[in-house]
Amino acid sequence: MSDFGRVESPGSIDSMTGDTTALHKLLDLAPVTSELDGEFFQRNEIVRHGPIRYEQRKNADNQPIVGIKRLRAESYCNAGREIRTIATCDGSLGQPTLCRAVSITVVLPAWHKSGCLRGVEIRRLIGNNQELFRPIHGASFVFKQVAVVGATGAVGRIMLQLLAQRQLPVQQYRFLASARSAGKSLEFDGKTYQLEELTEKAFIGCDLVIASTPDDVAQKYLPAAVEAGATVIDESGYWRMKPDIPLVIPEVNPQAALITHGIIASPNCSTTQMVVALKPLHDAATLRRVIVSSYQAVSGAGLQGTVDLLEGTKAQLAGGDYKYTTFAHPIAFNLIPQIGSFKEDGYTSEELKMVYETRKIMGLPNLAVNATCVRVPVANCHSETITVETERPISPDEARSLFSSFPGIIVVDDPARGRYPMPADCTGRDEVFVGRIRRDLSNPNGLSFWCVSDNLRKGAATNAIQIAELLAAHRFGYRR
Ligand SMILES: NC(=O)c1ccc[n+]([C@@H]2O[C@H](COP(=O)([O-])OP(=O)(O)OC[C@H]3O[C@@H](n4cnc5c(N)ncnc54)[C@H](OP(=O)(O)O)[C@@H]3O)[C@@H](O)[C@H]2O)c1
Repeated sequence: MSDFGRVESPGSIDSMTGDTTALHKLLDLAPVTSELDGEFFQRNEIVRHGPIRYEQRKNADNQPIVGIKRLRAESYCNAGREIRTIATCDGSLGQPTLCRAVSITVVLPAWHKSGCLRGVEIRRLIGNNQELFRPIHGASFVFKQVAVVGATGAVGRIMLQLLAQRQLPVQQYRFLASARSAGKSLEFDGKTYQLEELTEKAFIGCDLVIASTPDDVAQKYLPAAVEAGATVIDESGYWRMKPDIPLVIPEVNPQAALITHGIIASPNCSTTQMVVALKPLHDAATLRRVIVSSYQAVSGAGLQGTVDLLEGTKAQLAGGDYKYTTFAHPIAFNLIPQIGSFKEDGYTSEELKMVYETRKIMGLPNLAVNATCVRVPVANCHSETITVETERPISPDEARSLFSSFPGIIVVDDPARGRYPMPADCTGRDEVFVGRIRRDLSNPNGLSFWCVSDNLRKGAATNAIQIAELLAAHRFGYRR
């Protein structure tokens, strides 16, 4: 049970039975009753519920210890959209009487009539300009039901590991995949779950969905999750460039995740690591141009990509044939200068993702970006050579310092001792690694460096979970 008042569905109201220790401790209040009742969900603009009742504690002289002058409640609707006016309260709060009845009025925006509103929850109570009531980490669940979609895939498997490791406060998990996987068992955080088939009805009851499926699956099913009232974090490419959909890297543009219409997209793996590295350089010296070449691991093409590399390599070593299913050419002992399909001007879809997604995330619609993406016979972790041109020169020393002080970047840059980031060292890590930092000899305002990151982690699962943590922090005050 979460420690805020929660209304699950029109007409039904949970009492405020969660952990209110923070409120009582802060105000030294002893609850007489704590309840939400009354008529709540009406299909009109004004929805009322109340009272929430508290008794103030008295000191030895029978005087109230704390006098509340003003009380404000903030709420949000669980369809993930912002609520304009939050709540006010009445009741004689300034009076020294001991028992207070507080009615909270929530004014809903007009769009709730569209039917996407499934409930309202009281997020914070603020009195005397202090936050009185918010969830306490470890004492509550911030998400009631989280669906992990694509749980059997390359990203999904890492997602499970990380969710168990990071212990996002979730009351109940569900795991979904295709009909091929439905009914199979899956181990998560020491328990056995049964995989469910993804259908449009599968999202009922979910307040958060984390999805890692092919684009067409994300296109078809995720609107149903939003309709069911869930916030969706999607790894696929389908929603990323839609104008109303935030495309988020928490270290770079966290604010974008907080104004959502339901779906939040996580960027392409090769884009994410590059943009994390670009951000501190841009903040310091304003980017003019970015040239990137990527060396992308086979795990970026899903589980089958890894199978292709392993089986293709074994077959070639044995002098036999192997029929590749993911790649158009043998990847064993080879490089393939094509990721995705060819689009305009001879660029591939992967290369154009790096251009357009970078501009969107950084809010720089005219940034000059040129990308070449290459598949390499490496199991995991994408590598990139990145050359930037900035408004003013950045020396390698300044760049090292900028990178080192940016969250989520680790500098490994000691060429004399042969130290630089490599996929074998970065796999299983959540950070973006940079090294080989040097001046661009062809351009006084240029800087070149090497960048490696685990595409299944920061390039996918870690980023999605960081977005979930961001939402939890914003909505519920959750801190890891
Ligand atoms: N791999 C990366 O480095 C990476 C990085 C960033 C983003 N992404 C994106 O993340 C998504 C997943 O990538 P991945 O590498 O994990 O792929 P993957 O290994 O091929 O896994 C695909 C997942 O989607 C599920 N799925 C496929 N068709 C489905 C359907 N009709 N209904 C329900 N579930 C279905 C699969 O379930 P079954 O097992 O039941 O088939 C599996 O769980 C893709 O959009 C990809 O572009 C990948």
